[in-house]
Amino acid sequence: MLLEKGYLEKEIDPALDLFKEINYLKKKKNAVILAHYYQDADIQDIADYIGDSLGLAQEAEKSTADIILFAGVHFMAETAKILNPSKKVLIPDLKAGCSLADSCPATEFAAFKAQHPHHIVLTYINCTADIKALSDVIVTSTNAVQIVESFPKEQAIIFAPDKNLGAYINKKTGRNMVLWDGSCMVHEIFSLEKLVKLKLQHPEAKVIAHPECEEAILAHAEFIGSTTALLNYTKKSADSTFIVLTETGILHQMQKASPHKTFIPAPPNNSCACNDCPHMKLNTLEKIYIALKYEQPELLMSDSLIKRAKAPIAKMLELSAQFGL
Ligand code: 13P
Ligand code: SF4
Repeated sequence: MLLEKGYLEKEIDPALDLFKEINYLKKKKNAVILAHYYQDADIQDIADYIGDSLGLAQEAEKSTADIILFAGVHFMAETAKILNPSKKVLIPDLKAGCSLADSCPATEFAAFKAQHPHHIVLTYINCTADIKALSDVIVTSTNAVQIVESFPKEQAIIFAPDKNLGAYINKKTGRNMVLWDGSCMVHEIFSLEKLVKLKLQHPEAKVIAHPECEEAILAHAEFIGSTTALLNYTKKSADSTFIVLTETGILHQMQKASPHKTFIPAPPNNSCACNDCPHMKLNTLEKIYIALKYEQPELLMSDSLIKRAKAPIAKMLELSAQFGL
């Protein structure tokens, strides 16, 4: 059965206890919910595992479930499918894409790669499976610096698709990787002016940022890291106030882990107070319930693409294990 437009209104009785129903379906179907930190708080609360891109890939690889419901965006669900071709991978909303992945179309990237025949291709996991298939090793914000440093200094490297993360790695490692000109719409719209004002209002606050932010923003950060690294930093820090420069979903876990600390989401350069990823936020508990009930929308990929995209992901997982990540 294919779900029609308006199915949510028809299917969902407002009196339904979605937490109870979703937990029942998970058990009945041997399904797991893997969720990224940028999901809404209620989705994080019902997930079996919450993590950053590396953690989610590692969890997907070792999953023994029959069904993986991926509460994140399309490229993340693709990675889960590539690592589990025989499992059913569901995504609550197939339209949950990613501006960063969209900024790197495969045909143009293949031409760019052809212009640099002596370079190896290191690619941020936030890209489509077609781009992964053109890459030598995938990286995430958790392992990127270590993976880059595992290659000799003289090795020429193309880094795609995030120019901000690429510039940050170049600075940290002293490399000169050739960067693809892509970026994340969420991390690029933090307002420098509002950040400076916020710092003046909260001089005691530690500023922490995701490396997808622009260099001028990162210059203000006392700590830079992946979502998991930012969360761990706030748990361990003796400080009690943090200005957080990443998508606001992560604040749920920060607040849960440190209820007595204060987390201030840094504002974007528009009229919104918070910086939400519109793609991540397409997922809802209602859509998760329907997806588990009807086992769709299912993420489908050709065997040949799965095979070509798997090698660079496997290489990343192997290197991460070597680094103890
Ligand atoms: P990490 O959770 O791996 O830090 O990535 C952030 C992100 O932008 C995911 O879309
Ligand atoms: Fe893509 Fe940025 Fe949203 Fe992450 S936060 S899914 S990189 S648009």
